[in-house]
Amino acid sequence: MTTRTKPEGERIAEAARDVLRTNDTGTLVRAAPNLYPHQWSWDAAFVAIGLATFDIPRALAELEHLRRAQWRSGMIPHIVFSAESGYFPDAARWRTADLSPPGVATSGICQPAVHAIALLRIRQRAAGGPHEAAVLDYLGRTFDSWLSWHRWLHDVRMADGSGLVTIHHGWESGMDNSPRFDAPYARVQPGELEPFVRTDTTVVADVGQRPTDREYARYLWLVQQLADVGYRDVEADAVCDFAVKDVFASAVFAVACDDLAAIADELGREPEARTLRGWGRASAEAVDATIDPATGLACDVDLRADTQISVPCISGFAPLLSTRDRGVRGAQEALLAGPDWLGAPGLASRVPCSTSPASGAFRARQYWRGPTWPVLTWFLAFQSRRHGSSDLFDSLRDASVAQLSDLQFGEYYEPFTGEPLGSLRQSWTAAVALEWLTTEPQVPTGRARLAEPAAPAAGARQEAQPP
Ligand code: SER
Repeated sequence: MTTRTKPEGERIAEAARDVLRTNDTGTLVRAAPNLYPHQWSWDAAFVAIGLATFDIPRALAELEHLRRAQWRSGMIPHIVFSAESGYFPDAARWRTADLSPPGVATSGICQPAVHAIALLRIRQRAAGGPHEAAVLDYLGRTFDSWLSWHRWLHDVRMADGSGLVTIHHGWESGMDNSPRFDAPYARVQPGELEPFVRTDTTVVADVGQRPTDREYARYLWLVQQLADVGYRDVEADAVCDFAVKDVFASAVFAVACDDLAAIADELGREPEARTLRGWGRASAEAVDATIDPATGLACDVDLRADTQISVPCISGFAPLLSTRDRGVRGAQEALLAGPDWLGAPGLASRVPCSTSPASGAFRARQYWRGPTWPVLTWFLAFQSRRHGSSDLFDSLRDASVAQLSDLQFGEYYEPFTGEPLGSLRQSWTAAVALEWLTTEPQVPTGRARLAEPAAPAAGARQEAQPP
């Protein structure tokens, strides 16, 4: 492990805290200052993890803001809209007014269920500190909401018993235009589309970094199809042009079930803990079973074509998040270290690209088609370390912290030049910088442990009151 000088780490941490504070509207932390002026579901969980390094009550408040937007079904929507304008598609386009809780404006689709991972991380950070009782109280009061979110995913999005999460929109994966979705999207032929004007391409000056207009028309067509059936999943299954078993979202679900089970244990909710562990195990095994022996990567399933999707994208490393199988973990780590990924020639930082540079689908500057995403680097490393892969964690941390020392906190980075792309001062990028810089060097191997200690950021003060 390389030892960085304290001032450098502290300089990055200070700048990262400043990003989170500046993006904080007082009620939510904008995912990014201009491009994303609302709260995004999985962004909020990573943001909460970062906030917890210096302000545990604020971290809980961020998750609470999201929880209050939960639909009666249990679904947690992928966007909770703030009062700010400037983002499209806006709340009206989603037609969710009768589905969202009163007074809350939301989208109508979901994102990967990283929230329980954040809850457990916050609980670990609170261990032995002044906010521990408040965190436990919060977990006790809200446990049933998080459980119903997991239950909805399990009962509705895995109703086929496959253990794999169905998504009806690429946005539900969080990896919008990843080439893993090219084949399913090719079948989406927009009919008569309500007129629209994009705003993302006015914020990101280089439109080449964003999805194309053709892709965007397909995204909006799917929104229209889903809104037309009131987001009722059974009807969506029948009418929506896009239906994919998302292997990465499934691995996230597996991990989050285990983490929520650890919380359930502490709350004395044994039956729920058992149920969650069962769901987690089934999904982890289902994810492993999608591995293509020819490539070693896990694969999504295109349900409309009944085919596996075998494009080399970062989602292929989903088993690194969730597998219990040492053989699978070892093979995935070796693949990650190899020439198609971390060993690809010319990388500015040895961090994984969103699409393998060895693939014809790779585009160095375009959103999920190639750039490196700091949040995913951290997430893969964090999970790997929880399963005992400290060397991988250390090397990714050193590479990622070096990448983030530009203090731009890019949404994503050009892999060969290291140029920050998309939005700068992206909240989840700042959040993971704080995690990197405050994670204790060694963690016991094995499954989640409630009492894993975590050092507070140097110079950080605890602030605010718990929600
Ligand atoms: N990520 C999408 C966007 O870029 C929305 O979820 O707007």
